Amino acid sequence: MAKLDKDIEQIFLPSLKTARMRKNLPTEIINFEVDDEYKNLGIGKTYYIYTYGCQGNMADSEIMAGILEKIGYTYSKDPINADVVLLNTCAVRENAEQRIWGVLGQLKGRKRTHPDMIIGICGCMPQEEKATNKLINSYEFVDIIFGTHNRDHLPKLIKMAYDTKETVVEVLSNEGCILENTPKIRESEFKAWVHIMYGCDEFCTYCIVPYTRGKERSRKKEDILNEIKELKEKGYKEITLLGQNVNAYGKDLDNGKYTFGDLLIDIDKIGINRVRFTSPHPRDMDEKAMQAMANCKSIMPHLHFPVQSGNDRVLKIMNRKYTRKEYLDKVNRLYELIPNISITTDIIVGFPGETYEEFKDTISLVKEARFEGAYTFIYSKREGTPAAVMDDPISIEEKHLWFDELCKATNEGYLKGHERFVGEIVEVLVEGPAKSGNNMMSGYTPNNKLTHFESTDNSLIGKFVNVKITKANTWFMIGDLVE
Ligand code: SAH
Ligand code: SF4
Ligand code: F3S
Repeated sequence: MAKLDKDIEQIFLPSLKTARMRKNLPTEIINFEVDDEYKNLGIGKTYYIYTYGCQGNMADSEIMAGILEKIGYTYSKDPINADVVLLNTCAVRENAEQRIWGVLGQLKGRKRTHPDMIIGICGCMPQEEKATNKLINSYEFVDIIFGTHNRDHLPKLIKMAYDTKETVVEVLSNEGCILENTPKIRESEFKAWVHIMYGCDEFCTYCIVPYTRGKERSRKKEDILNEIKELKEKGYKEITLLGQNVNAYGKDLDNGKYTFGDLLIDIDKIGINRVRFTSPHPRDMDEKAMQAMANCKSIMPHLHFPVQSGNDRVLKIMNRKYTRKEYLDKVNRLYELIPNISITTDIIVGFPGETYEEFKDTISLVKEARFEGAYTFIYSKREGTPAAVMDDPISIEEKHLWFDELCKATNEGYLKGHERFVGEIVEVLVEGPAKSGNNMMSGYTPNNKLTHFESTDNSLIGKFVNVKITKANTWFMIGDLVE
């Protein structure tokens, strides 16, 4: 195994224990630059990136694509023909990791016949000791293993892999920096991700993210606003602000005087058509941010507001730091300020020690909060987190039954959320032909409802159209184009 030395940090293998520490050092801001020695590394060669996990990872992949193109690589539509294949991984649940081992199995055969190709694993999985040890010991055909804190080293890591023909491992378990001035190859020409902060300091007891992504650190307001202004000039219609806890924005800057609510107001002034954000932490959702959502024209009437559980005891052992009532008070305040809002959520079923009665509180909350959608997950044990050592007596079969019961409740919410628009005219930002074909086009409404309408006109892609909704089902709405 090639070791990285000298000028870089001393920690090259991950340590969840080190990652847990919050040393409160000032956040380092790194302006990305490519060293001359790497500038032509990829000339005549191609790359492909597999992306798993959250929107944060999608945005990171756009940066890595930008870095690869900066050093000469071109995009390959097909991973099988690419000279560099990166897997940008997620560690949030066991099944996310299972998929990666599966893809690696497929790539192994290709590497045998194409020994010059580079296979790189990055993102959240390498930040876990267990995953990186398994990669080093059982997947020796992997060329590069790097984490979430050193994407900017990608050119150097590729060069080392070419030069040494050994597995190059560089995973930093520090609090993380902020990388600015990064090249990006954005996937869409009209929708864009914009990171406003990185990392997470919440330490919900089930969650690996604070260990894989470092401390909460906010980008400077000027850097965010300039990026959005540039997107507007390029014709982008919609942006989604990203962070693990977006409304912790600014707590680490200037004594927390400039908050997420202030940022929303300033972003609104730029005049991009649609602004969304994900995810806010319920505890940090304050009146100012809610007022900003209500008053700023460009902020869309949809809030993804992860609750996780509707039971106070479970919320407490999850370390969520709010009660059911506090959560519902915020939900009700949002309905008061923005009557048309759609609220969606994340829910975990079968947290260690959760009883059926406690789970029933989640079902009742789904109805009380009038969720119009939910990402629902069966609890997945993440080694190194506090919940991993909690007693977990309920069988996985039983958890599946609870999960099905929950999905029934959340699906009703999805359907109601669509039915309420039947007969109305909604504005749709057109994404492209519907996946089902049928001469339909698809897009999303301000409330983030997937909408299909009859058309084969590709020139509508990236434009706003008005659609009169005629039919609703659980997963989408159907309507007719209106002038
Ligand atoms: N930062 C965001 C979400 C991060 S992860 C937030 O707090 O809202 C996305 C979702 O995955 C979480 O909201 C949670 O519902 C789920 N999740 C995280 N860890 C999990 C685990 N160990 N098992 C099951 N679901 C988990
Ligand atoms: Fe994980 Fe909680 Fe942080 Fe979300 S807020 S990333 S669930 S620790
Ligand atoms: Fe997964 Fe890492 Fe995102 S664990 S959800 S890719 S922050």
